[in-house]
Amino acid sequence: MSSEFTRTDVPPLTEAIQPGTATDPTIGSTDTATVTVDGHEVTLEEGATVLDAVTAVDTNEDVPALCSYDREDNIGPRSECRTCMVETDDHGLVPSCSFPAEDGLNVKTDATAATEARDVNLDLVLSNHNLRCTTCGKNGRCELQDAAIATDVEEPRYGVLDDRDAYEPIDDSSSFIQIDRNKCILCNRCVEACNDVQVEGVLHMEGSGQDTRIGFQNGAETMADSTCVSCGHCVTVCPTGSLVEKGIEDAATLPIPGFTQKNSIGQSFESTDENKEPMTPMKQDDRSETNGPTSTNTAGESESESELEDWP
Ligand code: SF4
Ligand code: SF4
Ligand code: FES
Repeated sequence: MSSEFTRTDVPPLTEAIQPGTATDPTIGSTDTATVTVDGHEVTLEEGATVLDAVTAVDTNEDVPALCSYDREDNIGPRSECRTCMVETDDHGLVPSCSFPAEDGLNVKTDATAATEARDVNLDLVLSNHNLRCTTCGKNGRCELQDAAIATDVEEPRYGVLDDRDAYEPIDDSSSFIQIDRNKCILCNRCVEACNDVQVEGVLHMEGSGQDTRIGFQNGAETMADSTCVSCGHCVTVCPTGSLVEKGIEDAATLPIPGFTQKNSIGQSFESTDENKEPMTPMKQDDRSETNGPTSTNTAGESESESELEDWP
């Protein structure tokens, strides 16, 4: 695994451009390191992180890394989302994206504390996300959706952003890029792509707390009024449907069977004449406490077909 990235690789910035990476913490190991992840040994070059080790082996559990993109591309990690937590013998729980790969480190992706931390943090991300997958331009190619499916999210414990009165209007002003801030998870990838890679200086984070949002450095209210040159790099790195190419939104909303406006992730069912079963396995043993169908059946034995037919 290449790990030749150093801070000096960050492109120069003009004074007028607010950087996305300048405040990133220093990350990566100071030397080559051999790390054990779920019993698999992997040797990494200088500058590697625990996430580099995790992605190099076949881990027991899926480890999302929603605010990390590609350090060689000078984008992330920002250590914001904490969906990448793993357990280490020496340091306990750590964010794998930014923790250095220390020689001799023993990492467990399936430790109870690590899976619980990732689950809680993913649910926190989902709690501020408009989970309307079926009308989303990134449906089927969304990292948040992938993470939710891979970790069997059933009912995000903190709910989702589902209050239409609280929705921020979609910015449809650009001819090329649509911004739906209701789907933004504030990962900062677009800011770094725009400022530190393209050096265009269009995007930045503005506001604070619950009001934090993607904004424009020239103070514009809309993408059309910003200094955006429509290079599209921000769209490429956005993990969700917050930044989407214009014109292909509809084409991207169909591929996943079982997803409807009501169920979005988690309560999805692939339905054929012979087989009706959850698209994502149920987490809870007792389905009766959920609002959806009450079966955990993956063999088609105990669930009520009539209940499934009632489900959207
Ligand atoms: S498309 Fe516009 S906002 Fe996005 S990276 Fe390029 S210049 Fe920046
Ligand atoms: S618009 Fe996309 S890339 Fe930018 S912060 Fe929001 S989720 Fe991340
Ligand atoms: S990917 Fe590690 S904190 Fe977001």
